[in-house]
Amino acid sequence: LPVTVYPDSGSASRSVAKRIADLIRRKQSKGETTVLGLATGATPVKVYAELIRLHKEEGLSFADVVTFNLDEYYPMQPDAAQSYVHFMKEQLFNHIDIDMNNVHIPTGTLAQEEIPAFCLAYEQKISSFGGLDLQILGIGRTGHIGFNEPGSAPNSGTRLVTLDDLTRRDAAHDFGGKEKVPTKAITMGIGTIFKAREIILMAWNRKKAGIIKKAVEGEISSEVPATYLQLSDHVEFVLDEEAASELT
Ligand code: F6R
Repeated sequence: LPVTVYPDSGSASRSVAKRIADLIRRKQSKGETTVLGLATGATPVKVYAELIRLHKEEGLSFADVVTFNLDEYYPMQPDAAQSYVHFMKEQLFNHIDIDMNNVHIPTGTLAQEEIPAFCLAYEQKISSFGGLDLQILGIGRTGHIGFNEPGSAPNSGTRLVTLDDLTRRDAAHDFGGKEKVPTKAITMGIGTIFKAREIILMAWNRKKAGIIKKAVEGEISSEVPATYLQLSDHVEFVLDEEAASELT
């Protein structure tokens, strides 16, 4: 599993942003659309900040970029402060020239019975754009990627899932208490993520060191869904020194 370690999350994030920018420009020069898989949470914030800088200062255009976010809490109103729609607008979309018709984030307001059809349509939408060129990922302390918690199947698709207790505890701060964190989410599956032509998993800080060790060096198991990435030949882990500190 290719692992690249940077001295800090700032330099790591700039290098990931540059790879995204290079991909967009390479495809633009051929008149092609770039299809990006995006993540929320603390991890990609500096990548998005650098993409905004590249847009404002270096003319990087997102006019022909299509995006699919990994996940959204369920239920969740899009205009709620904790929604991933809100997060993505604040951290990226409001500051670049993306066409919001090209932005896709799982809908948090569906009726329960509408969810299976929505999830199937999300998969088909990704395929209709030719699949994801690049998926960026963070990792949860449960070993989740997207919200694929322990027990997720390697061939899983987009679906409604139940969040792990640790994931809800880690989100408690954003919601003002664990009991206010939704118990469910709609997430792309492990299988959905695997179909991306390139996957970059990022992790920063000491608190991710233990799960990074398991993800990179541990036995492949549904107990740590990120271990499935060991089976991919187009994945790279981008870490800061703290997150890499327990690797042998
Ligand atoms: C977010 C997502 C999650 C996060 C993970 C890490 O869209 O799918 O897998 O990447 O929970 O969260 P942070 O970056 O806040 O540590």
